[in-house]
Formats: sequence, C-alpha cells, structure tokens
Amino acid sequence: MMDRGGSGDPVEGGDERGPEGPVLRIFLVGFMASGKSVVGRRLARRLGWRFRDMDRAVEEADGRKVARIFAEEGELRFREMEQAAALRLLAEEGVVVATGGGWPCFPGRLDDLGAGTLAVWLDVPVEVAVARVRAGRSRRPLLEVDDPEARARELMAVRAPFYRKAHWRIETPGMTPGQVAAAIAGRLEGR
Ligand code: S3P
Repeated sequence: MMDRGGSGDPVEGGDERGPEGPVLRIFLVGFMASGKSVVGRRLARRLGWRFRDMDRAVEEADGRKVARIFAEEGELRFREMEQAAALRLLAEEGVVVATGGGWPCFPGRLDDLGAGTLAVWLDVPVEVAVARVRAGRSRRPLLEVDDPEARARELMAVRAPFYRKAHWRIETPGMTPGQVAAAIAGRLEGR
C-alpha cells in the first residue's frame, strides 16, 4: 500500500509527485533492514539505472567496514563520512540509492534534496526489521545491545518524523521486494 505519509496524510514537507522536473535519482530511505538494498537493486534493474548503496560508498572511500568505523571512530565520525558519501551520490544521475538507516535523520537532509531527487520511505514495523537483523549476517552496530528491540523502538520513535519527510511512503509488509520495486516504477511512470 502506498500513500503520502502516515495513514494517507500528506507527507510533511513533501508533495505527492516528488521533485520539480524529471526524477534523476531515487533515494530509498527507512529503518535498518527495511529492504532498501534488495528493493533498490530490483528497481534499478527495472529502470535501467545503476544501484548504489550508501554504506558501501562509505566503505569504498574509507577502506574499512561500517562496523569497524563505528568501533574505531565512533558514530559521529561515521555520520560525517556518510554525509560526504551522500553528497557524492546526490551528484550522480540515473541511480537508485539505498541510504543508511540513520542518514535522513538529521535536520535538513530530506528538506534540501534539491531538484531531481525523489525520496521514497520503505516503511517496516520495528519487530520485522529486528527479526531480519537477527536472522541476517550484516552487522548493525546500533543494535548490538542487550535488548535490540527496545533500542530499535527508541530509534524508530526519533526517526519516523524524518522518514515521513520522504515524498512517497510504501508500507512494505505483505509485499515482495519485486512488488515494492514495481509499485515505485509504476508510480514514477504515472507522474
Ligand atoms: C545505520 C544503518 C546501517 C548503517 C549503520 C547505521 C542506522 O545501514 O548505515 O549501521 O543508523 O540506522 P542500513 O540501513 O543499510 O542497515
């Protein structure tokens, strides 16, 4: 199901159709394990665009894995590196970007995307995201705590208002990644 923010309400700061002019890049935003990478790959393939992952862009620039950057430099430094990667990705065209779960969650990030960038929130319940993180092999340093579900709930409470600024929101439960990608591509064609 797709709408413009919570329960069909317009997204705060967003508009129904996305940015002015042609969409040159799509930034997928949402919580850790919301499916940004798997959906992003499929969407890019459908559109004939490139797929880029913001975490991988940080790792390529730095030479270390995200978990190691967190451990050795701390979250604040990681956020600086992540924003530097985001600015590079915002200069690319014909690209679908899986952003890091925390990247949009600073003032201005989704307000100042500029022309050509469509932001889509892949919304997922916290318990689904935590179950995927538990079952998967990718490390999420922020959830490496005694009670990851409680931590995830706290994070989501703080982050949801930022994710809500995306132009479009898709409630992904019950949809396959292919269906989510098709929904985005279809809506893009209808613009
Ligand atoms: C983070 C999400 C991760 C990664 C880092 C921090 C977050 O990316 O950037 O572990 O703050 O939510 P994914 O959203 O791809 O898991």
